[in-house]
Formats: sequence, C-alpha cells, structure tokens
Amino acid sequence: MTQDELKQAVARAALDYVAEGDIIGVGTGSTANFFIDELGKQSHRIKGAVASSEATATRLKSHGITVFDLNEVERLSVYIDGADEINSRGAMIKGGGGALTREKIVASVADRFICIADASKLVDVLGKFPLPVEVIPMAVAAVGRRLAALGAVPTLRMKDGSPYLTDNGCQIIDASGLQITDPSTFEVKVNDIPGVVSVGLFARKGADVCLLGTAGGVKTLMF
Ligand code: A5P
Repeated sequence: MTQDELKQAVARAALDYVAEGDIIGVGTGSTANFFIDELGKQSHRIKGAVASSEATATRLKSHGITVFDLNEVERLSVYIDGADEINSRGAMIKGGGGALTREKIVASVADRFICIADASKLVDVLGKFPLPVEVIPMAVAAVGRRLAALGAVPTLRMKDGSPYLTDNGCQIIDASGLQITDPSTFEVKVNDIPGVVSVGLFARKGADVCLLGTAGGVKTLMF
C-alpha cells in the first residue's frame, strides 16, 4: 500500500467516530484532507464542523459541509486530525502544515482527539520532525535564541522568499535537532517563552485514540 492509501484507510476508519447530528472539529493537512473527502460523501450525517484552518474551511465548504465559527459552539464531540509524529503515549508533534495554533484551540474544546496517521508517524522519541513554534513576528530572533538555549537549531520557515505567514498573521520557527524525552515539560517550557503563540507539541492534551494505517490494516491505539 502507498502512503496515500494508508492515509485514506485511516480517514475512512475515522468516520466510525462521527455520530449522527454532531458538530465535529476537523484538522489540517493531507491526512485530514482525505478525511474531509470521505466525510463529504456522507455530509448529511453531521450538523457541521469547526475548521482548524482557512484551507480546511474551504475544503469542507466545497463538500457542502456547514462550517461553524468556534465562538458559536460550546463543545465538540471529536476532533479529527493527522500528526507529524506521535509516540506510544499519544503525545504528538503537529504544525508541519502551519495550522498548529488553531488546531490546538479546536482540539481543546473537543471531548476526544482522534489522530489519523500512517505508520511512518509512530516514533519512540519525538523530535526528528522539526518542532513548529508559532511566534509573534517581532519576537522571532528572541524566541530563536531561547530555543537554541534549549538545545534546538531554530530555522525561520520561509515561503516564496519571505517568512511564511500563518492564518493568524504570525511566523513559524521550526526547531530541529531535538530529542523530546519529556514532551509535557518541554511543551510548558516553550509555551512560556514571551512571543510564542503556541508550540506544536500536543502532549498535555494529546490524542485519545490513534488510528494507525499499517500494511496489515488500520490499528487502533488507545491512550
Ligand atoms: C497541520 O498544521 C499539521 O498539524 C498536520 O496535521 C500534520 O502536519 C500532519 O499532516 P499530514 O497529514 O499532511 O502528514
């Protein structure tokens, strides 16, 4: 099976976690896109969705799915999203697609986080994938120095020759060279740096379930 076929398999499996009449939270990225396309085939089953990015909102709407503003919604039954890395405890690195802050916000109001990922995303220690950190533009250099002091090699994310801008008008530092053995503690440390909007470590509130696409089928990991 190709990586895309594995992503499609977990996207289909995630539909089992979506109940009739629900409003659900939907993530961002290629695996989340497969999920949106599957959801689109049965869009009548749900009341609507809250999107974690402008790109996801556009894709949901293209399938005729109602997109709610988070301020209109009190609670979400599930939040369904991919990950760049996930460990055996459900802690994740996210934000490769740049939507980490809205992903964290939407996930925070959901009862359960269902992570959908192909098997390549499961790791023993988080950090081989550079950790995305969303930063207020004026603080980029200062935050970069603080991340370096924590052992990272900070790189400002670029797009078409300019700093990449998030949906929130902020910039992203990708922190590489890390071995994150205590993800919850590291999440707090990075969040605490002035100028950081959010860090793409989802450890204090990680995944509740991971649907992992493997050559032998979709495995369900519960945390
Ligand atoms: C988007 O900001 C990310 O958090 C994605 O959810 C994550 O990068 C996984 O993306 P893929 O499904 O494209 O690998």
